[in-house]
Amino acid sequence: MKPSPDTCASEFAHAMQQAFAQRPHHIAPKWFYDAEGSRLFDAICELPEYYPTRTELALLDRHGPEIARHIGPGAELVEFGAGSLRKVRLLLDALERPASLLPIDISAEHLWASAAELRRERPGLAVHPLAVDFTREFVLPPAHGPRVGFFPGSSIGNFEPGEAGALLARMVHWLDGGLLIGVDLVKDPDLLHAAYNDARGVTARFNLNLLARANAELGANFQLARWAHSAFYHPPLQRIEMHLISRCDQVVQLCGQSFPVAEGESLHTENSYKYTVAGFQRLAQRAGFHPEAVWVDARRWFALHWLRPAHSLR
Ligand code: AVI
Repeated sequence: MKPSPDTCASEFAHAMQQAFAQRPHHIAPKWFYDAEGSRLFDAICELPEYYPTRTELALLDRHGPEIARHIGPGAELVEFGAGSLRKVRLLLDALERPASLLPIDISAEHLWASAAELRRERPGLAVHPLAVDFTREFVLPPAHGPRVGFFPGSSIGNFEPGEAGALLARMVHWLDGGLLIGVDLVKDPDLLHAAYNDARGVTARFNLNLLARANAELGANFQLARWAHSAFYHPPLQRIEMHLISRCDQVVQLCGQSFPVAEGESLHTENSYKYTVAGFQRLAQRAGFHPEAVWVDARRWFALHWLRPAHSLR
């Protein structure tokens, strides 16, 4: 497919070109999430090796009533990185008279479909989806009740700690009610390794889909068989790194530009930081939150933190 001038002017085109223009090559993980990437991510969440989703759902289920007491009645929920809206259903079930839900996601198609399904299911709930990149400037509509953020799935781990702190600092100003946030915990590296190297190869397909997306949207020339999925835990930085490794010398074509890539060179596609409970609470405190409660599963694999904006307590 020949790329059109429009698609070559897109932010995705720019991000891919930047990624290959610099060394080491790296790109933000948000570009994984076209419709197919979102579908593959949902499939990852069902994998036996990928424990975060199941563990977080169990925490929400088990501690729902206590979480609801902290949140209080009539809240307006804002879900960041909403995806399939599976987890927020559990939270909505636990809450007393939630006023409305604003699911925010970068993947518009997936968001509209999930929001439409939720509206059909719960006709009494006002659902106002927002297809925006919440890491950029955007405007939230006026609130209808105490505004409470829900940021599940340890998506905060996909930001560099400095960026994560900056994002939390912005959330302090959006959310007068508080923030319920899921954070993956530091644990046995073998468990982490398995979670990002599943036996069925779904995570590999998710990683490689970035290149398939560039072919479809930008007319790039990636041959997926020439790239290998690589994911490993880096203990000193407490993060999983995902890369795509070039299996041979090759030339990548992106919107009229050529980028030579050597055998063994990598495109770094994602970091997934893991935190201790205390480490994440320190990050949240520096951002202006007061850590009020935390729920952790018996194996200490995953944490759900309830944070209040420190300014709302004065
Ligand atoms: C969305 N995010 C929290 C996932 C994670 O675990 O970092 C994305 C993911 N990447 C590979 N598997 C799942």
